[in-house]
Amino acid sequence: MTTIQIPSLETIRESARTFINNMGDNTIFAFYGKMGSGKTTFIKALCEELGVEDVVTSPTFAIVNEYRSATTAELIYHFDFYRIKKLEEVYDMGYEDYFYSGSLCLIEWPELIEELLPEDAVKVFIEEQPDGKREVRIEN
Ligand SMILES: Nc1ncnc2c1ncn2[C@@H]1O[C@H](COP(=O)(O)OP(=O)(O)OP(=O)(O)O)[C@@H](O)[C@H]1O
Ligand SMILES: [Mg+2]
Repeated sequence: MTTIQIPSLETIRESARTFINNMGDNTIFAFYGKMGSGKTTFIKALCEELGVEDVVTSPTFAIVNEYRSATTAELIYHFDFYRIKKLEEVYDMGYEDYFYSGSLCLIEWPELIEELLPEDAVKVFIEEQPDGKREVRIEN
């Protein structure tokens, strides 16, 4: 288990860099954490640190958003399964094409599609501490 602190939003990019340095060859990351714990904010920081210039976090967010790093030209998929009501919707969106693409997949609310998560998905737990700081634990 690797633990990364996010002391403040001012330094979140440094925390994101530490996370990236710990990713290894893994491509699927499942972010668990309560509503408002900071999943979207941290994923946005990760994408920015990876060179994405237009990270979307607006209400128009679909189940999956595709980004491309301007520095490496690699694709990154950001999923939010919060509004999923039936697994059928996930099959219909062609989740396998994303999960098994070899591109980085960053997933919010993975518990809603737990049975579809690949075996080698890395579990990440984000928790807000009593002082408001966030702690990120990577299961590895
Ligand atoms: N590391 C952080 N430090 C301080 N505030 C944070 C941090 N991360 C997120 N926040 C704040 O907490 C709020 C919720 O963050 P965010 O939307 O990232 O949570 P979430 O886990 O994605 O929630 P949801 O489950 O609803 O998708 C935002 O107002 C954000 O600014
Ligand atoms: Mg979110």
